[in-house]
Amino acid sequence: MNTTGKTILPLRELGKTGASVSEIGFGAWAIGGSWGETVEENTALDALRTAADAGTTFFDTADVYGDGRSESLIGEFLRERSGESFFVATKMGRSGDFAPTYEVMERTALASAKRLGVEALDLVQLHCLPLSVMRGEVWDNFERLKSAGLIKNYGASVESVEEALFCIENTSCVTLQVIFNIFRQKLVDELFPTAQKNNIGIIARVPLASGLLTGKFGHNHHFDSNDHRNFNANGESFNAGETFAGVPFESGVDLAQKAHAIVGDSTPLAASALRWILDFPAVSTVIPGAKNPKQAIQNVQASAMPPLSPEVHEKLRDLYQTEIAPIIRGVY
Ligand SMILES: NC(=O)c1ccc[n+]([C@@H]2O[C@H](COP(=O)([O-])OP(=O)(O)OC[C@H]3O[C@@H](n4cnc5c(N)ncnc54)[C@H](OP(=O)(O)O)[C@@H]3O)[C@@H](O)[C@H]2O)c1
Repeated sequence: MNTTGKTILPLRELGKTGASVSEIGFGAWAIGGSWGETVEENTALDALRTAADAGTTFFDTADVYGDGRSESLIGEFLRERSGESFFVATKMGRSGDFAPTYEVMERTALASAKRLGVEALDLVQLHCLPLSVMRGEVWDNFERLKSAGLIKNYGASVESVEEALFCIENTSCVTLQVIFNIFRQKLVDELFPTAQKNNIGIIARVPLASGLLTGKFGHNHHFDSNDHRNFNANGESFNAGETFAGVPFESGVDLAQKAHAIVGDSTPLAASALRWILDFPAVSTVIPGAKNPKQAIQNVQASAMPPLSPEVHEKLRDLYQTEIAPIIRGVY
């Protein structure tokens, strides 16, 4: 708590943005849609409020999450908390009418700003666009949007190490959003040293492997047909890495139990899985998706935990190398 009675989570610098953000953020895809039954508006707002009360200052969304619903919910939340300071990252590039031209990028940014109720967007990320687009005019367009005062910072959400290194070496992006969790460890050696050297803010997404790394799923768990954990379980609609971090569900259930045995099952696996991510100083913030206040409060708990021991890190590394890396799917 600070002197105003508000809880504060440890802050980390978000690369060259100059902002310090809570090391545990909030991923707002699930409150928008594509995760089974629609999250009720009040529940979604309560999840955002609970996260903020627990010290979360960083929120990640996108124009396409629930076709604008996620951004609108965050806009509503920001209006309620108008005296407080938050950092909202959004994304563009995956809506049907997107094109990487200045006119479309400006129109898209204006629509996001309107839904969020802000004059300038804190951070806009390209939403997993191919290298062919990232080699083009998008960065110049972002720079123009920044000069026009519509965005404050820009970066990219990427799928692969190749794309991430391309962005660091060839563009003016200041943040990278990457899939990083106990099931996806390749970035530790192949990206983080370069990112740190170049002061790039790393935003760690899918940290719970779409819920697998909470240890709550059994082999027979059924996901609704409108949940990406059903319709994209094997990468049928988009990169397999975005669902269960690219691990086949059945294997993931067993691997989560093995990870839980390694970290110690006296602590909830979700907290240890998030703690594992925070133990890498290259990470600026981790953005677990929460669908309700209970999940939101559980997800900030990792911040109060001590780092995992070197022995635990070593064992999780072994588990990854021997049993996970050989079966992982999706561009990575
Ligand atoms: N291409 C991109 O740029 C991209 C792609 C994916 C994600 N993201 C961003 O990254 C964020 C996080 O990733 P994600 O939401 O895909 O996956 P995630 O954080 O690994 O998993 C989120 C899901 O796990 C379950 N969960 C969360 N906290 C829990 C807890 N404490 N206990 C039990 N279950 C819990 C919830 O689903 P159930 O309760 O239904 O199980 C929740 O929807 C997204 O919200 C989004 O902001 C970006």
